[in-house]
Amino acid sequence: MMTTSDGIEMMTASEKYPKIMIYAHWLTLVFVLIAYFTSEAHIEDSLGGQVHVIAGGLVFIFFYVRLILLMWFKAQIPTVSYISELQKTAFTLMKGALYTGLFVVPVLGWFTFASTHESFDLLGIELPKVLFIPNVNFGEIHPIIANIFMTLIGLHALAALVHHFILKDGILKSMK
Ligand code: HEM
Ligand code: HEM
Repeated sequence: MMTTSDGIEMMTASEKYPKIMIYAHWLTLVFVLIAYFTSEAHIEDSLGGQVHVIAGGLVFIFFYVRLILLMWFKAQIPTVSYISELQKTAFTLMKGALYTGLFVVPVLGWFTFASTHESFDLLGIELPKVLFIPNVNFGEIHPIIANIFMTLIGLHALAALVHHFILKDGILKSMK
């Protein structure tokens, strides 16, 4: 915690996230960006489509990896104090929304895909038929939710920059 000259308590992180959580955090960003920038590719028959499914699948796997790390290193997560209740709520809601996106966006992508395909060759290997059972098509919901997710990530990144350059607290460094 840090106190400014006029006595306001700032939100600061006094320590860093464990190294492995930092790697997992930035790797997630890489996978999300790859999935996003390959999202307009034709899924069935293009390299971009293969990359979209692999990167999106890795995001899904990293949802679990990060949850496990979060529970495992619970005691080592940087402690944060808040300027206000509103800030605390916003912080918690954003974290919850980001975690939810890591799960929901790839799952919806898969649902869309499974409802329109009977099989798929990933890197030349045919995926098990059982993966194509969910036959629910939510229409355009995967791209819509994916775009909302990307907007939230943008806001989250912006908030990190505001903490670093304007509030000048240790929040960004805690994830570096
Ligand atoms: C974080 C992970 C993912 C992100 C950010 C993401 C993002 C997107 C976006 C933005 C689009 C719309 C592209 C356009 O404007 O045409 C899209 C389309 C699509 N994605 Fe994903 N996606 C992810 C994961 C997945 C996964 C795991 C699958 C599983 C196969 C998948 C399957 C599809 C399919 C089939 C489409 C075409 C849907 C359509 O044209 O209606 N996505 N994705
Ligand atoms: C340029 C992009 C990004 C920047 C600058 C950034 C920055 C940060 C910083 C500084 C923290 C530590 C403060 C805190 O605990 O909130 C953090 C935590 C966090 N970030 Fe990001 N982040 C970015 C991208 C992402 C992406 C793509 C995701 C995935 C959806 C994500 C999800 C999270 C989550 C869930 C936390 C809480 C700690 C945890 O549970 O791992 N961030 N981020």
